[in-house]
Amino acid sequence: MTAVLGFGGYVPERVMTNEDWSRLVDTTDEWITSRTGIKERRFAAEDESTLDLSEQAALVAMKDAGLNPDDIDEIVVATDTPEVYTPDTASLLQDRLGCRNVPTYDLGGSGCAGWIQAIDVARARIAFEPKKVLVVGVELISRLISWEDRATCVLFGDAAGAVVLGPGGGKATLVDVISGTDGSKADILTLQTGGTRHPFTVDSAAAGDHQRLDMKGSEVFREAVRRMSSVTLDLLERLDKDIDDIALLIPHQANKRIIDAVGQKLGIADERVFVNVDRYGNTGSATVPFGLWEAYEGGRIQPGDLVVLTAFGAGFHWASAALQF
Ligand SMILES: CC(C)(COP(=O)(O)OP(=O)(O)OC[C@H]1O[C@@H](n2cnc3c(N)ncnc32)[C@H](O)[C@@H]1OP(=O)(O)O)[C@@H](O)C(=O)NCCC(=O)NCCS
Repeated sequence: MTAVLGFGGYVPERVMTNEDWSRLVDTTDEWITSRTGIKERRFAAEDESTLDLSEQAALVAMKDAGLNPDDIDEIVVATDTPEVYTPDTASLLQDRLGCRNVPTYDLGGSGCAGWIQAIDVARARIAFEPKKVLVVGVELISRLISWEDRATCVLFGDAAGAVVLGPGGGKATLVDVISGTDGSKADILTLQTGGTRHPFTVDSAAAGDHQRLDMKGSEVFREAVRRMSSVTLDLLERLDKDIDDIALLIPHQANKRIIDAVGQKLGIADERVFVNVDRYGNTGSATVPFGLWEAYEGGRIQPGDLVVLTAFGAGFHWASAALQF
């Protein structure tokens, strides 16, 4: 069965607080805190990009696994904020890390559920052929969204998380993953300009359309709670486990109110639900692997623990994964 051989995470140093945002757009710490639970987030320095964040998280995960770049057999990067339009961030990461000429690919556009989908793809690859697969979730959202749209800009931050997966041994077993998609809800969270339907033009760039994240906040909220809780229950049922068997639930960190609502729906005690959204905001596909690394590194996970990950994202996608430590 697929194993996690090492965990990694990285956040840039620069802290952006709610007070900082309140000096740039018409918002307040009180509004952001009460609606989202976010107090601060990290933003990449001007000379940092997606590849730098990916590299840092990957180095930590490879070190934790006791592996060198030469040992990696495949690389997957889940991101909606790639290093460049083409090629994929994963090819650039292969070169940056000094890996062999192993296959690499990005899983892009899946928003915040992208990294759990990526480990699902990776475990299928490993089942087919025993390999060591580096799976990174990375987002540098501060560079791609509007700094003028108060409804979205205050929600996000930059981060990267990574694991190395392999065919056995390691620190935890990836027991199961369930994911799903409702493409009819693609419009509730979308950035349209830049694709073939709405290519970049001088006018669209001048209007800032390339940074316009269209978000139906309350619909996203509702779907997030519904889908993260139901996919977690489906996963538990398939594993013949119940809520009390979960030592730690690591949900996608988009909003503390969403996390609380999922916890209530599942009937899980607050102390068994991981939260770091107050310190990092929503870091897209990085929230789950980064949170997993923080929990592991911070000693919140013990041998024998069942850890459940769950996420939702633009698509509309949802996914849950179970790790047995
Ligand atoms: C976005 C979100 C925080 C808004 O919270 P909410 O409780 O629905 O907000 P409310 O309906 O109470 O308030 C909306 C009002 O606040 C205003 N507002 C929006 N952002 C604001 C900000 N940063 N500061 C102050 N006011 C703001 C809006 O303009 C609106 O004003 P209006 O009523 O005069 O039109 C919430 O819907 C949410 O988190 N949704 C999920 C989003 C998400 O997770 N996205 C990422 C998915 S991966």
